[in-house]
Amino acid sequence: MQTSIINEHKLHDLLGRTIVDFGGCSMAPLVVIGDRLGLYRELTAHGPLTSTELAARTKTHERYVREWSNAQAASGYVSYDAQTGRYSMTPEQALLFAQEDSPAFIVGAFQTSMFAGRMAERLTESFRTGEGIGWHEHHHELFHGIERFFRSGYVGNLVQTWLPALNGVEAKLHSGAQVADIGCGHGASTIIMAGAFPKSQFIGFDYHPESIAEANARARGAGVAANCRFEVASAKDFPARNYDLVTVFDALHDMGDPAGASRHVLTTLAPDGVWMIVEPYAGDRVEENLNPVGRAYYAGSTLMCTPCSLAQEVGTALGAQAGEARVRAIVTGAGFTRFKRALQTPFNLIYEARR
Ligand SMILES: C[S@@+](CC[C@H](N)C(=O)[O-])C[C@H]1O[C@@H](n2cnc3c(N)ncnc32)[C@H](O)[C@@H]1O
Repeated sequence: MQTSIINEHKLHDLLGRTIVDFGGCSMAPLVVIGDRLGLYRELTAHGPLTSTELAARTKTHERYVREWSNAQAASGYVSYDAQTGRYSMTPEQALLFAQEDSPAFIVGAFQTSMFAGRMAERLTESFRTGEGIGWHEHHHELFHGIERFFRSGYVGNLVQTWLPALNGVEAKLHSGAQVADIGCGHGASTIIMAGAFPKSQFIGFDYHPESIAEANARARGAGVAANCRFEVASAKDFPARNYDLVTVFDALHDMGDPAGASRHVLTTLAPDGVWMIVEPYAGDRVEENLNPVGRAYYAGSTLMCTPCSLAQEVGTALGAQAGEARVRAIVTGAGFTRFKRALQTPFNLIYEARR
């Protein structure tokens, strides 16, 4: 038997990190509860508050609110003043937890990870059988979580930097373009674009009917229904309408047949049309992704993206950390002759493809 020598230092370091993570896992439902009950918003609007005052204002039970508040304070998500026994939110904490329209709003990420975790039993079986789990099979709260999580990134980047990074696209959108957003989910990206470019027509497609119904309701709520609508269609059969721009936000790697989808996109584009592909940031090699961002994406990919692709025809299962080389190979293999990385952020890669 091999004798292993335990390095105390390494052991304590790893243990320390797992305790942080274990606490973080337990915080996911507490963040969701605080969001639902308006605890963060009330603290932001009226803090500093004692737990009694916060409970009274949110019509909740003080004992629960006190425990919740202490867990938040220990996480650094809420501030605590020991002199007064009051809780409050700094402007930074408010941006992350209380302000839905802020580009830093993070509640959707916790909501997503909490409801993705509900698939653990099914997924354990999938590990044994190799069977996929369709996107539509998740809890509906997961779809809302994804919408809220990704929307923050789109609010902060899409109109300001991503679209302008594509050659000639912004000018076309201002003068009036036909745009299709594929795998649009609840339509966060589509609705933001429709609001910014009222002369252009936007249509979002997703194979999931409940998401499409939600997206149409969101478009009406946002006042963009005149130039934005949503239809049920898969990436391989959405109707061709000579689009000036086709977009796919964080969905190519979820598709069972991204190569087939790429071939179909090519047939739907106008001759000088552009395909914008937004994917999670990733390097081509595993070792390039062994960092906090790669970790979150690999985990989400195991829980949602890989099973989603495996549930569909072909089941390519690119994974959320596919990297540029694999995406380029798929897109150019489908017949696009021009492909480039137009932009990158710490969280996303934005590609531009042309025929
Ligand atoms: C991670 S979500 C992204 C949703 C949306 N694009 C966003 O950024 O909020 C992936 C979406 O891809 C959709 N999807 C997966 N496979 C698809 C396919 N083959 N055709 C169309 N939509 C698909 C799912 O239903 C889901 O809404």
